[in-house]
Amino acid sequence: MNDTVKPAAWSRRDFARLLGLAGPAALVGRGATLRAADAPPLKSAASATDESYWKSVRAQFVMPPKLAVMNAANLCPASAPVLEKLSQWTKDVDRDPSQHNRQKFSETREQTRKALAAFLRVTPEEIVITRNTSEANNIVSSGIQLKEGDEIVIFGDNHPSNNAAWTDKAKRFGFTIKVVPQKNPHPGPEYYIEAFTDRLAANTRLLAITHLTNTAGDLLPANELCRIARKRGVLSLVDGAQSFGLLDVDLSVMQPDFYTGSGHKWPCGPRETGVLFVNKNVSTKVWASIISAGAGPIGASRALESMGQRDDAAIAAFADALAFQTTIGRAMIEKRSRHLAQALIEGVRKIDGVRLWTSPDPSRSVAVVTLQPGSLDVRKLSAALYQKDQIAGATRGGSDRPGLRFSPHFYNTMEEIERTVGAIRKYMAAGV
Ligand SMILES: Cc1ncc(COP(=O)(O)O)c(C=O)c1O
Repeated sequence: MNDTVKPAAWSRRDFARLLGLAGPAALVGRGATLRAADAPPLKSAASATDESYWKSVRAQFVMPPKLAVMNAANLCPASAPVLEKLSQWTKDVDRDPSQHNRQKFSETREQTRKALAAFLRVTPEEIVITRNTSEANNIVSSGIQLKEGDEIVIFGDNHPSNNAAWTDKAKRFGFTIKVVPQKNPHPGPEYYIEAFTDRLAANTRLLAITHLTNTAGDLLPANELCRIARKRGVLSLVDGAQSFGLLDVDLSVMQPDFYTGSGHKWPCGPRETGVLFVNKNVSTKVWASIISAGAGPIGASRALESMGQRDDAAIAAFADALAFQTTIGRAMIEKRSRHLAQALIEGVRKIDGVRLWTSPDPSRSVAVVTLQPGSLDVRKLSAALYQKDQIAGATRGGSDRPGLRFSPHFYNTMEEIERTVGAIRKYMAAGV
């Protein structure tokens, strides 16, 4: 790290200032106090169930202690140490925006690339630093040369940045798409292995799946599906928006051709940070969709990372977010999130009238839990949970597995899970 940026201890007032608020009370609301500045130094986790340890992890975040935010599938908070680094780097740029001063960000970007490579267990040459998963998915769908007569196979429950993008590009370039629909309840990994294998044909060029879905939290057998695709000479794209930073992902085992993720979700990194892994065997098969100044210096980043001016501070602090999780232990973070999600599943299953869309089987789900609370109005329920019980999940409208979605992560506590189960039980009995 360049020595013009000096880490300094942060006061509560600094945090409030960073977030543009008048003072700690405005920041946290409801009279709670900021904890991050007082938090003890981070240690590695020895167990997934030691509540006192995980409470000390929770204290590293600036969320008010009483607010239970279980929406990691959408957006995660950055921890206080990461916010501190982000602010230091940001101030550094604004204090001296000269190219001379900003030169150091070429080095920090490469440090982040190395950190991402180590995190995903691949090489820095295979890492492209993007702004999010949407961008990474679209670099692939716009960059792969497909033509009339070619076909791709996609999972019906992929995110729009995957499926809507493929549909649009199919119209433009004339290739066709076969869809493997999602099934609920999750029919098991074997079902999906068979369903995808059945749809691979001689003209199949690519398989696009989601590792863990954002809808019902279905876990797909990504390692096996990538292996099958590889054997058939079919490219594989794994959307890892819901697995990067949650599961202890090992791309050296999975060996996809492409894997995508967002830093601002489960890795708890700065917003507008993301990753695209491009297997070294296919790096020449992707055309760039954005061509500008600022290309990366090695491997796939040379062609695919020239996106003009970037948020250098966010990219630098992305590495700190990965270091934060690595200190706790990635396998432990996965265990902890699973432990919380299992407790939530067990709790809500006992409530009359609640329908779970998420499989309780750990080989079919991880920590995205979606449920239908009987005939309660989901919007009203969600508002009541937030306003009266300080519990924030997400809602799913429409007719496709509607309800509430909770995605607990390592910064949540068992008390928050119990409070959530208790609140749902209360509203199911008495109405909203
Ligand atoms: C599976 C999946 N893919 C892609 C995305 C898009 O992520 P982002 O908005 O960070 O680009 C999401 C967002 O929720 C997602 O769940």
